[in-house]
Amino acid sequence: MQRLRNSIGDCLLVCIVAIQLFPLLYANNVTKNCKLNFETESERKALARIEPLGHRNFSADFVIGEDKYTYVFQLCGDAGGVPGAGIVQVKVQKTEQKSVTIIGLYNSTEVIGGTDYVWLSYGNGEKYDNHCSQEQRKAFVMIFCNRNINVGQLEVVQENRERKQNCFYLFKLESSAVCPPMEHKLGAGSIILIIGFCLVAVYLIVGFLYQRLVVGAKGIEQFPNYAFWVEVGNLSADGCDFVCRSRDRDETPAYRGVSTEPLDEEPEERDDHLLPM
Ligand SMILES: *[C@@H]1O[C@H](CO)[C@@H](O)[C@H](O)[C@H]1NC(C)=O
Ligand SMILES: *[C@@H]1O[C@H](CO)[C@@H](O)[C@H](O)[C@H]1NC(C)=O
Repeated sequence: MQRLRNSIGDCLLVCIVAIQLFPLLYANNVTKNCKLNFETESERKALARIEPLGHRNFSADFVIGEDKYTYVFQLCGDAGGVPGAGIVQVKVQKTEQKSVTIIGLYNSTEVIGGTDYVWLSYGNGEKYDNHCSQEQRKAFVMIFCNRNINVGQLEVVQENRERKQNCFYLFKLESSAVCPPMEHKLGAGSIILIIGFCLVAVYLIVGFLYQRLVVGAKGIEQFPNYAFWVEVGNLSADGCDFVCRSRDRDETPAYRGVSTEPLDEEPEERDDHLLPM
C-alpha cells in the first residue's frame, strides 16, 4: 500500500515537471523557424525573449480613405496561413473579395533587443506596384515592455511609402515578455524594518507561548519578560517626564518632598495601628 502510494506520488511529480517543461521545449522551437539575415548570438537571444508571442495570429485594422485593410502578424509562423509570410495585408474590397499582399517574410528576419523592447523586422515582401521605386515591402514590429499585459493587441503605427527608398510598415505591440527582470523594489531600510518586525513578532509569539505553557502565567503576565518591559516602560515614562515636561524643575523637589514623604510613611503607620487590633 505504502509502495503504491509512493509510486503514485513519483508519477504525479514527473507529470507535473513534464507539464511545466513542455511549453518551454515547445516554445523554443517557434523562433527557430525565423531565418535571420545575419545569424548572431545576440539576435537569437533577442528573438528568444519574444517566444511567448508565438503560435498566434495578431491582427489590426487600418483604414485609409475608402480602403480598409487588415494586417495579420505571426511570430516566425505563417501569418494568416500564408506560407512563409510573417506579416500580410488583407485588403477588404467592396465586393467582399479579399486580396492578400505579403509585407514581410520570416525567412528574412532582423532583430534588435533592448532592455525593455524588442524590435523585429521582416523583409523581402511583395514589391510595391508604383511607390518606393517598386522595391520589396518590409515590416517593422516594435514590441514594448508592459508589465500589465501578457500579450497585447497589434497596432498599426504607420505605413510609410512616400519615400523613394526604404519604405516600411510599422507596427507596435506590448508584452511583459520583453520586460527586464523585476528588480527588488525594496530598499535596504525597508528590508531591515521588515526583518525587525518579524523578529518582534516571533519574540512575542514564542515568548507568549513560553510564558503560558512552560511558566504557566495568566493574563497580562503572559507577555514575555513582563517585568522587564514594565520597568522599561516606567523608565521611559520617567525619561519622557524629565525631557518633555515644561514645568520648572526646581519646583518639583519641593512639591515631591511635601507630598510623597507622608504617603510613604502613612501605610506603615496604618499597619501599626491595625496590628494590635
Ligand atoms: C493563423 O490564421 C490562419 C488563417 O486564419 C490559420 O490557418 C492558422 O492556423 C492560424 N495560426 C495560429 C497559430 O493560430
Ligand atoms: C525565403 O522564402 C521565399 C519563399 O517562401 C524564397 O523565395 C526566398 O528565397 C527565401 N529567402 C531566403 C533568404 O531563404
